[in-house]
Amino acid sequence: MSVTFDEKQRSFHLKTNQTSYVIQIVRDGFLAHRYWGKRINQFNDANELLHVHRPLSPNPDPDDRSFSLDELPQEYPGFGRSDLRTPAYQIRLENGSTTSDLRYDSHLILKGKPALKGLPSVYAESESEVETLEITLKDEWLNLYVILSYSIFESYNVITRSVRFLNHSEERVRLLAAASMNVDFGDADFDLLHLSGAWAKERSMYRRPLYQGTQAVDSRRGASSPHHNPFIALMRKGADETTGEVYGLNLVYSGNFLANVEVDPYHTARVSIGIHSFDFEWLLESGEEFQAPEAVLVYSAEGLGGMSRTYHSLYRSRLCRGKYRDQVRPILINNWEATYFDFDAERLEQIAIKGKELGMELFVLDDGWFGERDDDTSSLGDWYVNKRKLPGGLKDLADKINGHGMQFGLWFEPEMVSLDSELYRNHPDWCIHVPGRSRTTSRSQLILDFSRVEVCDAIVEQLENILRSAPIAYVKWDMNRHMTEVGSAALPAERQRETAHRYILGLYRVLDKLTTAFPDILFESCSSGGGRFDPGMLYYMPQTWTSDNSDAISRLKIQYGTSIVYPISSMGAHVSAVPNHQVGRVTPLETRGNVAFAGVFGYELDLLQFTEEEQQVVKEQVRFYKEIREFLLQGDLYRLLNPFEGLEAAWMIVSGDQSEVFVFYCRILAEPNAGFRTLRLQGLDPDASYTSVDMPERVYGGDELMHVGLRVPIELNGDFKSKSWKLRKIK
Ligand code: DGJ
Repeated sequence: MSVTFDEKQRSFHLKTNQTSYVIQIVRDGFLAHRYWGKRINQFNDANELLHVHRPLSPNPDPDDRSFSLDELPQEYPGFGRSDLRTPAYQIRLENGSTTSDLRYDSHLILKGKPALKGLPSVYAESESEVETLEITLKDEWLNLYVILSYSIFESYNVITRSVRFLNHSEERVRLLAAASMNVDFGDADFDLLHLSGAWAKERSMYRRPLYQGTQAVDSRRGASSPHHNPFIALMRKGADETTGEVYGLNLVYSGNFLANVEVDPYHTARVSIGIHSFDFEWLLESGEEFQAPEAVLVYSAEGLGGMSRTYHSLYRSRLCRGKYRDQVRPILINNWEATYFDFDAERLEQIAIKGKELGMELFVLDDGWFGERDDDTSSLGDWYVNKRKLPGGLKDLADKINGHGMQFGLWFEPEMVSLDSELYRNHPDWCIHVPGRSRTTSRSQLILDFSRVEVCDAIVEQLENILRSAPIAYVKWDMNRHMTEVGSAALPAERQRETAHRYILGLYRVLDKLTTAFPDILFESCSSGGGRFDPGMLYYMPQTWTSDNSDAISRLKIQYGTSIVYPISSMGAHVSAVPNHQVGRVTPLETRGNVAFAGVFGYELDLLQFTEEEQQVVKEQVRFYKEIREFLLQGDLYRLLNPFEGLEAAWMIVSGDQSEVFVFYCRILAEPNAGFRTLRLQGLDPDASYTSVDMPERVYGGDELMHVGLRVPIELNGDFKSKSWKLRKIK
């Protein structure tokens, strides 16, 4: 049993195999947060709630100055009563008031986990692996119900939370804020970790102490964005990669979000994550409901590494779906950095033939194959083949490429419309815009109004036609701008602030339709690289293009930072040309391969430019990846050296049965007269012996490799040098 209700204490105890989470109904139905942390057998109120009169904290009971919601740790705090901290939600009524008062009404414990209507979410494969607690709160005066859902994935050590609002009142209620979860920690002795950056430098790690006041990361850009990932962790002081307590919060959502931490004067920390309340308002007519997205909560007593491995195993098998969830992914060659917009059928075919010769499996035709598109100023929305570039059409090209033994994949940017396109000329109001105002472009394009069903349907129809017209095995789903003039021509004035969220709901509907209709296609999401790398997208597409920055040295940080939450199997990673197109750096081909191995591997350069010698290196890389990819994509990741902290990076991946191991090390800049480096491995079987595949005569103990360490060879001299090892358990 993952959920127990103690009648006497009126407390709920949620248990995974490693975590306990306790909620209690106190006083007149207030829902208090009592504990989240290492699993305990029983909750006996050891951290008894204390109340003291605090001047300036208001009191719901005039006869008891010691009690105020302002100091009660809560599960889902509201606004307007005696809690003056940041509320998790806020409403506005017809009379303009914004006060509400939720109290416990009832609860339900269910086997399994209901899906979230219209939204992606983590799922249970059988009823027995998850239990769900639904606590219904009610504003008695208004007749508004709020259902807090907690699903406990016991063996994954994960609790998911979400919130549903039901307007049973006679009047219209406007939601001004609706976070997906809130936790009030009893103290604030934490650092805040977040993954932030920009285009080409996504998900850098930032760690800072909590201070009194509000600290937040967010996106108001209409997409989860490369600027901040919808993830934060609170790390206990002193917690690090391998030790200490870490609390992770990740939102299964691809649009505007807010992750907020407020430290109050009494050193408590209120933490929440959910849809951003900025420029958001949702009208609930009498009888209507609103479903907030899901938050995934992970507690780790084994540092950041423990938290990451928990997210990885959950996302690999209970977020990602479809045929490719558990399958190896084809090694691809993408033509973008090889040709950009300048290609013809002949050139593409030659690249594909060379790819096959080197052992690759999938040829991906990127941007520029449709409409009149010769650069990024036109044709988005006109999803028909450009006969000038591909006179035989897509089918002809795909057939030829198939004939050479390669699968064929195609790029789309379905959410967009170019100013210069037939679609825009025919339907100028189909984009996100504000009537009468000029329309701000970005990359010369506007965003299609996916809050409108007819717009979504038209795009789905165009894409379906293309996908049926040729043997297409893979789709790269790109999205290259953020929202301005946020509004929809189809919504009434009072619903304009629903546009951004309705857009994301429309996008999810479209993705659902297409991925359901084409279950054999491997979908990869992309947003100017890794600009929408979030669990919402991973629910529909099991991999994301990690970054437009394909430089191996930049990728050390990008992939390391991404791995804080997202599994290796979700990160597209390609070997590209030198000098690198984004940063101009020249790195060894070996290092470019070694870095890209920790991801869904591929190439993105002109294969026809390789020398004979380079081709041999590439052949060997492809062969090696084929040998390791099965366990690599499903294995446990251990990060060994952090590139954000020094000029080295190292990580390793161990198969579930600990028999196969991949180790990677990179020295970014050579040092004169440097010391020697050993890598203390992790996650091995301490009682087993391992051998290195390239030196089978050397045998090491699992315990030895973990405690004594694996020596990095001295020959590894020079900038940007790296090495990877494959170790195998022999007994
Ligand atoms: C942005 C993507 O991130 C790139 O990989 C490439 O597909 C371009 N768009 C094409 O326009």
